[in-house]
Amino acid sequence: MKITVIGTGYVGLVTGACLAHMGHDVICADISVEKIATLQSGGLPIWEHGLKGIIDGARNENRIQFTTDMAQAIQESEVLFIAVGTPSLPDGNADLSQLWSIVVQIATVSQSDKTIVIKSTVPVGTSDEVEAVLRHLSSDPLHFEVVSNPEFLRQGNAVYDFLHPDRIVIGCSSSRARKTMSLIYKDFSVPIQFCDRRSAEMIKYASNTFLAMKISYINMIAGLSEKVGANVDEVARGMGLDRRIGPSFLQAGIGYGGSCLPKDTSALLALGKRLDHELPLVEAAVKINKEQSQLIIKKLRHSLGSLNQKRIAILGLSFKPMTDDIREAPSLSVIRQCLKEGAIIRAYDPLVHDYPLKDITLCHDEYSAIQFCDAIVILTEWEQFRHLDWERISQKLRLPLIVDGRNIFSLKQMEAICEKYGLIYFSVGRPTIFGTFGCDAKEKTSILEELKAAINGL
Ligand code: UDX
Repeated sequence: MKITVIGTGYVGLVTGACLAHMGHDVICADISVEKIATLQSGGLPIWEHGLKGIIDGARNENRIQFTTDMAQAIQESEVLFIAVGTPSLPDGNADLSQLWSIVVQIATVSQSDKTIVIKSTVPVGTSDEVEAVLRHLSSDPLHFEVVSNPEFLRQGNAVYDFLHPDRIVIGCSSSRARKTMSLIYKDFSVPIQFCDRRSAEMIKYASNTFLAMKISYINMIAGLSEKVGANVDEVARGMGLDRRIGPSFLQAGIGYGGSCLPKDTSALLALGKRLDHELPLVEAAVKINKEQSQLIIKKLRHSLGSLNQKRIAILGLSFKPMTDDIREAPSLSVIRQCLKEGAIIRAYDPLVHDYPLKDITLCHDEYSAIQFCDAIVILTEWEQFRHLDWERISQKLRLPLIVDGRNIFSLKQMEAICEKYGLIYFSVGRPTIFGTFGCDAKEKTSILEELKAAINGL
């Protein structure tokens, strides 16, 4: 089937590449000259695991093209996937300007019937509006089918998720659209849920909001676990073994970020507000998430006294591992607050090499970031941070404080490390571990006592 995918962000590009990989003829179109030039020359404008391989494969078989010629890309295909950005407006509503601009172009340049598949996350009712606008604008008696086909792709795993989905949701109102979509996804042996368009749009918001609620729920329990001396990781494990609950999205930490969960929860709240329908669970999830990243600051403040002139090493800046994306990353609010309180920040992230907060020093590796620091703060659970050389680290620290915002180490593991190197280890929803300083340096002992006293006052 000949398919055009409009928008080469991580959803559009992955969708286009995977559809080509599945044997369709795909045109990826974008108004960004820079992005298309990068793609045409064999590069990638985003980092996504496995993407280069499937694009190269599709290119070798002449099944994928990249263009900025939107009119031609629209005319040449019978199916048009729209995967443009729908960022949050200040009031939480989704900004649909990019979507409408494409819809107008489709209405004006189309010369044959089209199936328009909306992949972008859009407010409930948008697909119906798109159909109405297309009918209104198009002078020809052309036939437009509008389909809602939300994406459930995790950044970093998007190629895998596209090719191995749990389900495919298709909102459409005619048997003709249903037939087209069945052909596009004919090689998938997963449940394909056909439903009305509004329900399909709602499924996307309800799913992401539920994931956000699950994370905030475990973070809420983490706070209580700390107070009662329980270990939230054990709590989550025990909860997750109940099949009705399930183990995923119960990892306590400094909260969720990224381009989807924060945006989609805000959009759902904005929808509820517009319709005068309260969504207290979603409100609570958002509130807990906002406060969660600030718990790190609280721990630092209590253990260091004041953050002024304290050297803080931040490990991990992206909103999660395997991506260079920092949109809504908890690192932003943590670092912003540290800087506000006068801290000196040295940070390292394996993929983030450009960071909007310019008053920090971006280091080339974790050991350079740690040099003479008063505290190490782990904000992203990159695999390489699980294999830190503690011998090397212990020689570089000014104060022996580790704050693990993602619980990347087990308590058992850290008990041994703290004991050996005289470290103090804070994590989320778990007891603090105090090393006893085998090296018995007087100075370190007094620092430890001071820290202990301060920490006990938490
Ligand atoms: C999400 C959805 O998972 C995906 O289905 C949707 O289409 C797009 O949004 P993504 O934003 O890529 O995907 O990230 P995800 O893996 O869901 O993680 C979101 C955030 O939650 C990250 O900051 C992550 O660190 C955090 N998280 C996740 C937790 O804090 N705890 C968890 O248990 C899981």
